Amino acid sequence: MTTKDYIARENQYGAHNYHPLPVVLERGEGVFVWDVEGKKYYDFLSAYSAVNQGHCHPRLVKALADQAGKLALTSRAFYNNKLGEWEEYITKYFGFDKMLPMNSGAEGVETALKLARKWGYKVKGIAREKAKIVVCNGNFHGRTITIVSMSSDPDAYNEYGPYTPGFVNIPYNDVMALEDALSDPDVAAFLAEPIQAEAGVFVPEDGFLRAARELCDQYNVLMIADEIQTGIARTGKMLAVDHENVRPDILILGKAISGGMYPISCVLADDEVMLTIKPGEHGSTYGGNPIAAAVAIEALQIIKDEKLEENSSKMGELFRSSMRSFVSPFIEEVRGKGLLNAITIRPNNGKEAWDVCLAMKEHGVIAKPTHGNIIRFTPPLTINEEQMKDAIGKIQKAFKEFE
Ligand SMILES: Cc1ncc(COP(=O)(O)O)c(C=O)c1O
Repeated sequence: MTTKDYIARENQYGAHNYHPLPVVLERGEGVFVWDVEGKKYYDFLSAYSAVNQGHCHPRLVKALADQAGKLALTSRAFYNNKLGEWEEYITKYFGFDKMLPMNSGAEGVETALKLARKWGYKVKGIAREKAKIVVCNGNFHGRTITIVSMSSDPDAYNEYGPYTPGFVNIPYNDVMALEDALSDPDVAAFLAEPIQAEAGVFVPEDGFLRAARELCDQYNVLMIADEIQTGIARTGKMLAVDHENVRPDILILGKAISGGMYPISCVLADDEVMLTIKPGEHGSTYGGNPIAAAVAIEALQIIKDEKLEENSSKMGELFRSSMRSFVSPFIEEVRGKGLLNAITIRPNNGKEAWDVCLAMKEHGVIAKPTHGNIIRFTPPLTINEEQMKDAIGKIQKAFKEFE
């Protein structure tokens, strides 16, 4: 079968809810992936920042295989010998009292919203059914009905109503609008991404997260950080909130807590918040299964052992400085933090971000536009200097093709 055959089969039998780049991958190792015709690429998407530790990291493959051969799933009807180990490991790693495990990022976000509402009623004393959660325009927190109810992107919410009530949207990176919203005594929580990744890598002004933290304290509102994409060293620190020494009340993690090996998400919080949910009030059949526990511990340990925070920071600087000094009529702006970067594309001679991505693919680098004219560049954090320089050369060659 050729690339064309694989794509035709997916088009025929699969739902059309994605628009992938026309490349069919069959193997990955570290920063590289290979397509079905044997062509090798630098992966500059990393499965939307899930594969921070690099494709098929041998330690993750081993953790997965060892645990899968021993005990894969018990459900939470019984205890298993791995979940507690993961809970202890991750709460000490991030400095919270407790962890609640789920599977997808969206479920992690749903869990955080439920916790915030419970806390709002039980601890803050908000009247029944009145709790509000403040969110930002441009957010991306996943795809459930409740989550798209908070979205300001018509592609995400159109024709999925009726929507879940109880959300208040404000502009991102706007301290005054935030204060105005939080002063409403019915507000239980403020939910935000420390950098809006899907929206196009919008980095808020320095001080925004700290100001948000202080306002949440002032108005007795929980600060929820969705670090599903920004977390696990993607931005050059373990968490993006670490850049401003901010500790959220609820931390949501997903994607790279498994290094791309397994769908895992979780929520971290202290007892005052976490213990508001009682047995039987929330859960998931697969959440907290032994494979997830084994993989997540290994994935987080790899970040430390391989000093990936430091590498993400250094390689990110190299990427941004190289692309900022490169002159192209296509490039409007290069922005980001660590290895979460984006280039905004100025359409030129009828060519757009999608065309640039197709050209990059021909040169051996795969990345994808997010929201039309923005290309996100997020390689695995294991990328070394030689590989980064090589990849930048290929990216620049692709841009030059259109001049
Ligand atoms: C910030 C953020 N939150 C939530 C999600 C949803 O995660 P999932 O696709 O695993 O449900 C994503 C996915 O891109 C994300 O970037």
